[in-house]
Amino acid sequence: MINYTISSNPLLAHKADAYALFVPEDFKLTGHLKDIAQDIIPDLEALLAKHEFTGKAQSSFLVHMMHDKETKCLILLGAGKHNEKNVEIYRRALGSLVRLAEQYQCKKIALELPEPSFFGIKAEDLGQETSVVTLMAQYHFDEFFKEKRVKEFEFVLVADEACRTDLQKGLDSGSIIGTAVNKARHMIDMPSEHITPSELAARAKEVAKERGLKVTEFKEAEIVNMGMGGLAAVSKGSDRDCHLMILEYKSEKKNAPTLAFVGKGITFDSGGLSLKPAQYMETMKEDMSGAAAVLEAIDALAQLNPPVNIVVAMPISENLPSGKATKPGDIIRFYNGKTAEVRNTDAEGRLILADALSYVEKHYNPDAMIDVATLTGACAYAFGPFFTGMMSQHHDLEQKVQEAANRTGDRVWSLPFHDDYKAAIKSKIADICNIGNPSYRAGAITAGFFLQHFVEKTPWVHLDIAGTAFDVPDISYYRAGATGAAVRLLIDVARNWK
Ligand code: BES
Ligand code: MG
Ligand code: ZN
Repeated sequence: MINYTISSNPLLAHKADAYALFVPEDFKLTGHLKDIAQDIIPDLEALLAKHEFTGKAQSSFLVHMMHDKETKCLILLGAGKHNEKNVEIYRRALGSLVRLAEQYQCKKIALELPEPSFFGIKAEDLGQETSVVTLMAQYHFDEFFKEKRVKEFEFVLVADEACRTDLQKGLDSGSIIGTAVNKARHMIDMPSEHITPSELAARAKEVAKERGLKVTEFKEAEIVNMGMGGLAAVSKGSDRDCHLMILEYKSEKKNAPTLAFVGKGITFDSGGLSLKPAQYMETMKEDMSGAAAVLEAIDALAQLNPPVNIVVAMPISENLPSGKATKPGDIIRFYNGKTAEVRNTDAEGRLILADALSYVEKHYNPDAMIDVATLTGACAYAFGPFFTGMMSQHHDLEQKVQEAANRTGDRVWSLPFHDDYKAAIKSKIADICNIGNPSYRAGAITAGFFLQHFVEKTPWVHLDIAGTAFDVPDISYYRAGATGAAVRLLIDVARNWK
C-alpha cells in the first residue's frame, strides 16, 4: 500500500523527507531549483556539474539539504529530451526515485509531477502510471525473511489544481493495477512447495470470492473423465492432482464481447522424465507465471469494470518424473479429440494449454482468446528479457495487443507466425508431435503452431513470456524475481477493447 495525496501548494511547502522533481535534458536552474540554489544549496550548480547530471533519461541526482531545520533529500529525475514523449522514461525515473527513497530511508516523498504532455500522455494516464509504477518499484519478495523489507511510503504529488480530478482517477485505477501486478509477482516468487497446484487453485477461488466472480473448478478425476488427456498426462508423474480453474467476469452491458485469457499454470517444471539439467530447473517455480497473470488481470478488471466479459482459464499441474509419469513416446488424446506424440515431457506447457484452449473456445465461444505462457526457452533466447514473444495470424487482435503494449510498457514483439513452420510438428504416429523437428529450429514458433491445433475459429494471440516473467535486469521498477509480465497488458487490452 502506498498513500497518495494531490496538492497544488508549492513543493517545498510540504513536510517531507525527500523532495523530488523532474528536469529536462540540459535544464537551467529556474523555478524551485533557482530558489533552492539561492536559499538552501548555494553549491548546487557546481555539484550538478561535478556529477555531470544534465537531466538525461534514466539518470538521477540526489543531494542532502537543510530544510525546515532538518536534513532532507533533494532528488532530481532526468526527464530526457523535450520531444521524446516517451512515458517509459517517466516509469524508470519513478522506479529510481523509489529505490533512492528506500536507500536513504525517506518515508514521505513530495514529488512535483511533470507536465503529462512532456511524456506524450494525459493527466489521467500520468496518475495511473504514477501509482502502478511506484507500487511495482516498492515490491519486495520478503515473505521468508525474519524482518520485512517492504518500506511504507507516502507520496504528496504536487500538480496543477486543474488536473486533480483526472489525476485522482488515474491514481485510483493505477493502484488497482499495481496491486494486481504485485499479487501476481508474489504468487510467482513463492516456492513451489508453497504454491502447489491445489494452493494456486485456492488462490483463484479466493479472488473469485472477493470479486464476486463465477468460478468453476475441475479436479483431476473430472479432467480425466472429460478427456483432457494433455493436462492429465502432465500431472501423472506428480502425487499432487491437477486442476482446471475457470473464472468469469460479466459486464453489466448487454451483448458485451467476451475475451478469454488462458494462462499456463505449471507450479514446478522439472521437465518430467525428460529431466532438465539442474541449472535450468533452478527457477522453474516461475512456470505458473501465465496463470498468475491471467488471474490477477481478472482480479483487477473485476474492480475496474470495463464493458467486456472476461473468461479466465488456468490449467494447473506439476511436471515431475516418477514411476507413474508420462514417458517419451506416449501418445495422448486431447479434449478436442486430436492426438499428440509426446517425444519430450519437458514440452508440457503446450499439452495443458491445448485442453484449456479448446475447452474455453467450445464452452464460451469468445470474441478473442489470448494465452500467456512461459512456454519456450527458445523465446527467452531469441528476445532476452525485454520483450514478450507474440504470435498470431489475426492481425486485428495482434494490433490491439501491440497497442496495449505500447501504452503500458509491458512490451511484446511479433514473431513470424507463418504457415511454413506448421510442418515442424508432424508426427508419423499421431496427429501432431509435442516437439518440433530439429531442422525447423524456431522452437517458440513451432510451440505456437502446436497450440493453433486447439483454436478452431476464434481470433487468438499467443504470448510467450518465458523471457520476461522472471529476473529481468536493469529496469528500475522490477527486481530480481517475478515481474508480473502480461498483467498490465491484459488489463489494458480489456479496458480499451473496441
Ligand atoms: N518452462 C519451460 C520454458 C522456459 C524456459 C520458461 C526457460 C522459462 C525459462 C518449458 O516447459 C520447456 O521446458 N520448454 C522446452 C521445450 C522443448 C523441450 C521443446 C524448452 O524450451 O527447452
Ligand atoms: Mg498427478
Ligand atoms: Zn517444460
